[in-house]
Amino acid sequence: MVALWNSEASMGWSSRPEMYDAMLGELGEQVLRAAGLTAGERVLDVGCGAGQLTLQAAQQVGPQGSVVGVDVAVELVALSARRAAAASLGQVDVLEADAQDHAFPSSGFDAIISRFGVMFFADPIAAFTNLLGASRPGGRLAFVAWQAATSNEWVTVPIAAMVPHVGAPTLPPPGAPGPFAFGDADRIRSVLTTAGWSDVAIEDLQTTVPVGGARTAEGAVEFTSADTFGRMLLGNADASQRSAALTALRQAYQTHTQSDGVRLNAAAWLVTARRPAQR
Ligand SMILES: C[S@@+](CC[C@H](N)C(=O)[O-])C[C@H]1O[C@@H](n2cnc3c(N)ncnc32)[C@H](O)[C@@H]1O
Repeated sequence: MVALWNSEASMGWSSRPEMYDAMLGELGEQVLRAAGLTAGERVLDVGCGAGQLTLQAAQQVGPQGSVVGVDVAVELVALSARRAAAASLGQVDVLEADAQDHAFPSSGFDAIISRFGVMFFADPIAAFTNLLGASRPGGRLAFVAWQAATSNEWVTVPIAAMVPHVGAPTLPPPGAPGPFAFGDADRIRSVLTTAGWSDVAIEDLQTTVPVGGARTAEGAVEFTSADTFGRMLLGNADASQRSAALTALRQAYQTHTQSDGVRLNAAAWLVTARRPAQR
């Protein structure tokens, strides 16, 4: 996964961060709502990517607080740092490291947050045990993770449109590291409690996302075809298969176009937990 996020997987994220930010912004706001950050707090954003949530958290904790964004993708770390500097948020630090085993300051954070950055760990129990040690006793954890791919129209609609033209992709086994590794809420609860977190609460978020934040079906097609997911589907297609797949995708997106762009149903888990006070 570290190698993947330093390869083509992060290209879309680093070249067009504003599209992902527009698509995921509302879900990030749910993380911030659940985290309940206050001025002066120390926050860790896991898998911070291009840093939108990191910067929003920094605004909430203010100059007396601090936010560390951690990510394995070199380009995204650099981009987050540039965005923090451009926003004059000196309380932000961005770290290139694997959150699964990085030696964070012990008990160093009041809150640990993530927007879709915690599903890629090779060993989730080891990772959340490491994060527990980074949390102060009584500290909070709040993150969003996707529910199963089959519960997410932003995945099923493009698949249904494109697969007849380009063939089905090889899917990873359920639970393997990847965007849908935490599709099963019972697994999340088990991972977190085994790692030592308490007060685990999992909220079922049913919403819609604007695909790539694009205003038109054409813009959404462009987004999907350049995203990791579209590149995986189109990877082995020849020119005519590619063209047929993109035409079908455009038609599918047209039927979901609303006044603010292409909106598709999305299902995520909003997860909160706490490090027990005595640990
Ligand atoms: C789906 S992206 C989300 C990025 C960002 N949180 C956002 O919402 O825009 C997942 C991010 O997690 C990072 N990531 C994956 N595995 C990681 C790990 N073990 N430690 C730190 N970051 C990781 C990836 O490099 C990527 O930037």
